[in-house]
Amino acid sequence: MLDIKSQFPFFTNHPDVVYLDSAATTQKPKVVIDALADFYTNDNANAGRSSYSLASKLATQIEHIRADVQRFIGAHDAQEILFTAGATDSLNKVAYSLGMNYLQDNDEILYCPYDHKSFVLPWLNVQKLLKDKGIHIRMVPFEMTKMGSIDREDLFSKITAKTKVINATHIHNIYGADSDINQIKKHIGDKDIIINVDASQSVGHIPVNVQELGADTLSFSGHKMFAGQGIGVLYISQRLQQFIPPVFVGGGNGITIKDRNKEISSFTQSYEAGTQNYAGIITLGKAIEFIEKVGIEKIHTHLAELTQYLVSKLRSIKGIEFAYGPYYWRCSDGMGIVSFKIDKISPEELGFILAEKGILVRTGDHCISTHDEFNDTIRVSMHIYNTKEDIDKLQDVLEKIVG
Ligand code: ALA
Repeated sequence: MLDIKSQFPFFTNHPDVVYLDSAATTQKPKVVIDALADFYTNDNANAGRSSYSLASKLATQIEHIRADVQRFIGAHDAQEILFTAGATDSLNKVAYSLGMNYLQDNDEILYCPYDHKSFVLPWLNVQKLLKDKGIHIRMVPFEMTKMGSIDREDLFSKITAKTKVINATHIHNIYGADSDINQIKKHIGDKDIIINVDASQSVGHIPVNVQELGADTLSFSGHKMFAGQGIGVLYISQRLQQFIPPVFVGGGNGITIKDRNKEISSFTQSYEAGTQNYAGIITLGKAIEFIEKVGIEKIHTHLAELTQYLVSKLRSIKGIEFAYGPYYWRCSDGMGIVSFKIDKISPEELGFILAEKGILVRTGDHCISTHDEFNDTIRVSMHIYNTKEDIDKLQDVLEKIVG
């Protein structure tokens, strides 16, 4: 077992807590917390706004972190990396930018209705905004397999000459399955279809390479990969940047009120208009450093082992019913997320009882409201600090509850 837990002050301060809710947010390593405090204690300034050295040093540091993110997700160029407020912000920005500047009447967007609301709602919103302007885009749903991954056969059968965007979740936030989305790019080849990826549950868990995935955009949050909350990333490939003009404006992007038609020179100037969450960006840089020190492959292996162990332990619980995901899929490739229900006990009630015993899981619909069969579940989600002992404790308490 990896000796990682001691690097997370949360666990030192809560030695009896079993934290199994990392898909909602991860705990933070000391290096990240220290970096946050150090920034506000010693280095706080507004990057790029002033000529004194604190401000210019910070601007340089932010660009170094941009390059770190570029390397971490295998992007071609650092200018493809845009800092946002989180995955939801990134996903809204993609939908809005494409909606306002790229999509035309009758275009089709392929999406999975069982994806996270933050991935589906921005598109429904844009569809309405466009409809009000007399432009009709069609939202075309595709299915999910019983394993909790994209039903590629269904998806591919729905691609038409009008398909402009495919929304693809890399790893599902309830079902924890990897959708092998590089297969989508292989299938569509050079067709002009944008592959828009939500990688909130994969970055920081498994190696992610945007070029290998064939992603044109990729969104994720820092807080699910040990960084602070309120910081996220939006990757927009150079290929796509040629087709959509940057749309957001504000301080720092060179546009004046007298000359609003002036072209914004770069995506970073546009999407990062205004004072940024520098503290968040710094925590993201530290989190990447932390992950690279531990080793992303090691994290992936650890999560796969824990998933396998978790499913093997949960199998024995009387009345358990697994949701889609590792139970039906290959547990050995698990990503640390397993959802389930237990006969005759509501997930909320179970979550409450577990919390009383110090076991923290997420219960409810997990921001997905359309999957009738599994609308409410208990979700166990793990990360590098979890151990087999955590799972043993969960199994022990569940067994006592079901009798
Ligand atoms: N998106 C987060 C989750 O799945 C909050 O729990």
